[in-house]
Amino acid sequence: MLSSSHAILNQENYKHAADAHNEMGLNSTLYLAYRDIPAILERHLFGRTKKESYRLLDFGCGVGLSTEIIAKMVMKAGYKVDVLGVDVSEENLKFARHRLPKGNFLKIEPNQSLQKLGEFDLIVCNFVLVELQQKNMLNVLKIIQPLLIDSGALIVTNCTSKAYKRSNKWYSFNNNFPQNEPTEIRNNKPKFQDDQPIKVQIFTHTAGNSASFTFFDFFHSGKAYRSAYEAAGLQLLETHKPIGRDSDGIPWRSEKEYSPYKIHVLYKQQPKLEMDLALPPVRAKL
Ligand SMILES: C[S@@+](CC[C@H](N)C(=O)[O-])C[C@H]1O[C@@H](n2cnc3c(N)ncnc32)[C@H](O)[C@@H]1O
Repeated sequence: MLSSSHAILNQENYKHAADAHNEMGLNSTLYLAYRDIPAILERHLFGRTKKESYRLLDFGCGVGLSTEIIAKMVMKAGYKVDVLGVDVSEENLKFARHRLPKGNFLKIEPNQSLQKLGEFDLIVCNFVLVELQQKNMLNVLKIIQPLLIDSGALIVTNCTSKAYKRSNKWYSFNNNFPQNEPTEIRNNKPKFQDDQPIKVQIFTHTAGNSASFTFFDFFHSGKAYRSAYEAAGLQLLETHKPIGRDSDGIPWRSEKEYSPYKIHVLYKQQPKLEMDLALPPVRAKL
């Protein structure tokens, strides 16, 4: 599943520079990927299910940053949380285990079925689909879908096309590499092509400790995400594109004008009742 050379390069990078990846925190553009999640959880999870404790799966948990942030948000809302993070990178997982000693973290193979892990109320898959070409993105979504309970929510966060546009300058995210040029013309406008590799660099603003991490994303259009969700039996309920505000206390750049991220909230598609399909249409008696 990690057949493309760019996906392999990413995994090589995690092997050699997982420590730099681990330095990334919320004093960054990444803050916007999480700022509005408490309200999303309220709307799509706590408001729909009444539980004392929630089972959280972080698919592609990396060094555990997304896992830690979301688990703390669930706890802050007054619930217990049982945490499982899975990833294909053992190097990243080592940092995740250190970051969240009470969580469970499991190394998986790229196309491994995870049904033995049981079901989850909340599944998070942040910045993972951008590391996969379309066919692999669909495989991952098909692996995730059966793990979600009927009243559960899946949160999938990835970059927008604006994030990759070289004229946009971000607080902690550099996209200014010559190869990041749109390769397709649609409606007379230059556009990135589905599966086009995009080089990106993220960096920290921590005084005296400036780390940076370079990797490749694959561009996916909104249409590509929507058709993959549908093919995997997932229903897209909400797309949220957070914009930077003065009250965030971060000296935003393009973040104040455009959203670098799109946060997709999905439910499991409910199968049509077989009875619905089998019964002939009701006719009025004459
Ligand atoms: C950019 S990191 C994001 C980490 C974490 N979700 C976060 O937002 O902090 C992407 C992670 O996805 C993992 N990944 C890539 N392909 C995967 C796959 N097929 N299955 C599981 N994890 C995968 C990588 O190893 C990496 O740790």
